[in-house]
Amino acid sequence: MSTQQFDTYAKFYNLLYKDKDYTKEAEYVHQLISKHCQKDRSAVSLLDLACGTGKHLFELSALGYENLHGSDIAKPMIDVAVEQSGQSGKDIKFHNYSFQEAHNIPGKYDVVISMFSAVNYLTSFEDQLKTFKNIHGLLAEGGILLFDFWNGNAVTRDYSPVKVLRKKDQSAEIVRVSTTEIDLIKQSAAVKFNCQYFEGSQRVDEFEEVHHLHYYYFSEMFNLLKIAGFSLVHVSPFLEPDQPVTPFVWNISIVAQKS
Ligand SMILES: C[S@@+](CC[C@H](N)C(=O)[O-])C[C@H]1O[C@@H](n2cnc3c(N)ncnc32)[C@H](O)[C@@H]1O
Repeated sequence: MSTQQFDTYAKFYNLLYKDKDYTKEAEYVHQLISKHCQKDRSAVSLLDLACGTGKHLFELSALGYENLHGSDIAKPMIDVAVEQSGQSGKDIKFHNYSFQEAHNIPGKYDVVISMFSAVNYLTSFEDQLKTFKNIHGLLAEGGILLFDFWNGNAVTRDYSPVKVLRKKDQSAEIVRVSTTEIDLIKQSAAVKFNCQYFEGSQRVDEFEEVHHLHYYYFSEMFNLLKIAGFSLVHVSPFLEPDQPVTPFVWNISIVAQKS
C-alpha cells in the first residue's frame, strides 16, 4: 500500500517539526507504559504504528527501551527513519505497512503506540476498527495500546481555516501554509499544505499535498476499542495524564488494554 500523502512531505518533515518536543512526549509515553505494563523498560517490546521518521522511537531508545519497532505507510518516511537509525547506531527495526495491513508485521508486542494523531488519517470507521483489530492481534496477552487523537468537539469549534508555519535551520527554511476545510456531515478535514523551501534566499522547491483526516468523538473511539476487544485503562488530555478530559481538549490520549 502506498500513499501520496507524506511522499514529498517526508523530506521536510524533521525540519517542520524540529521544535516539537519529542523528548517530553517520549517521557509521557514512558510514564504511561510504566503505569500500565508490568515489565521493565529494557524487556518491553514496543511497536510504533505510523511512526513517521521514528522520532518517538529514538527518544524511547535514549530512555532505555531496547526492543523497538516502527512501521509507516509512507516509504519515504521510513527511509528517513532507517537512515537516521543507521547513523545513530541504534538497532530499531522498521517496517513499511499501513495500519490496515499491520497484521503482516512480524512479532508480538507488549506495547503498541501511535502518536501525533496518526489514527485520524483513518478516514472510515471500517478502517479504524480493522486497525484496532490488527493491533489486538499484534499485542501479547495483557498488552497495551497507547495513542492520541483529534477530538471532534474541539476540532469543529477551534480549527483554524488558514495557518502558517515557518521553520529554519542553519542552511534552509521552510514555509508551510495550511488551509483546512471541515465537512461536518462526513466528520472529515481536508488539510491542504503548500510548502516552499528555501536555501539562503533562493526558493529551491515548492509542493502541495492534501491530507485527508477524520475527526472522532470519544464515545466512537471507546466503542470501536470495545468491539475490537480492548478495555480502557487511561484517558486524559495529551501530555497531561492527571487532568480530566473536557469536551474541548483537542488531543485526547487513550491507553487501552487487550482483554
Ligand atoms: C502526523 S504524522 C505522525 C508521525 C509520527 N507518529 C510522529 O509523531 O512524528 C502521521 C503519520 O501517519 C502515517 N500514516 C498516514 N496514514 C497511514 C496509514 N493508513 N497507515 C499507517 N501510517 C499512516 C503518515 O505516513 C505519517 O508518517
